[in-house]
Amino acid sequence: MIDQRRLPEVLEIVSYHSHAEVAQAIKGMVVRGAPAIGAAAAFGLALAGFESRAQTTRDLLADMEAAASTLKASRPTAVNLAWAVDRLMATAVRLSVSQPADEVRQALLSEAQTLADEDVAINQRMAAHGAELIAHGDTIIHHCNTGALATVDWGTALGVIRTAWEQGKKIHVLVDETRPRLQGARLTAWELEQYGIPYEIISDNMSGYFLRSGQAQKVLFGADRAAANGDVANKIGTYMLALAAYDNSIPTYAVVPTSTIDLSLAHGGLIPIEERDPAEVLDIQFQGERVAPLGAKARNPAFDITPNRLLTGIVTENGVVYPPFDLNLPMFVK
Ligand code: MRU
Repeated sequence: MIDQRRLPEVLEIVSYHSHAEVAQAIKGMVVRGAPAIGAAAAFGLALAGFESRAQTTRDLLADMEAAASTLKASRPTAVNLAWAVDRLMATAVRLSVSQPADEVRQALLSEAQTLADEDVAINQRMAAHGAELIAHGDTIIHHCNTGALATVDWGTALGVIRTAWEQGKKIHVLVDETRPRLQGARLTAWELEQYGIPYEIISDNMSGYFLRSGQAQKVLFGADRAAANGDVANKIGTYMLALAAYDNSIPTYAVVPTSTIDLSLAHGGLIPIEERDPAEVLDIQFQGERVAPLGAKARNPAFDITPNRLLTGIVTENGVVYPPFDLNLPMFVK
């Protein structure tokens, strides 16, 4: 996988040889973005199959259950991770009835590859639906990184932007820098450079200004989990962005593959929010000097909940869902 901690300075590909290393890479955000960590966890679980010395399928399943728990615990908010692990475990359980352990191992590897390939196709379908919402000349505010780096390829919200651009629409992106990990300034800007799409980085607290002064026509972001009523958990700061957009009647879309929709949760208040190391907030430097006083304390929730009432629509691979989301969203999850 690409070590996303090092971009944009260094494009480094790293390899892992155990599911525990993959879980650590997810936790440490070597790989990040909901669909990308789902795919990474799927390959991590397939790896666990090959790590296991089990001769019988029963022993293999026991080893895989343990690996599944380790992988699922690596990050709590993005449901894609549990979704991918559960999908592979279901395959393992189904095949173990009739196949020897080595066949199960091979089948899990090919299931992980299928899941990864499907992610790209899903993103491209979603991008085609979303691009219809983008008008020639739009300036779009985008939060975090939702591009090829955050998925297997193409992206969710950034995938929509990419497809609209490839359709010949003249668009401009205002890239929220996305404190504290700066996924916007580091990763989204890096991707937009590769695609040749015009953009400018803004600090997160500038979006209200651009929305109120008529300098942005759309707001797009992804999600790490959407509840059954259409509330979405996404990178911290999304809620404030959506509020400012709502107050200025700017159309706001969450771009969300159905693997990110968790119909088991009635509303966003039930989504677990990851709280990360305060050092991510405190250790930033300005002009080579530490910003916060030594000994300063900080809070670091990594996600917030945007209530469904602030969303104009939710773009999925099966089409664009409009309110009332509690009635309409389940119909789009096949
Ligand atoms: O903490 P991260 O960088 O993994 O958070 C990622 C996001 O919040 C993305 O917006 C989200 O995964 C949806 S887009 C693929």
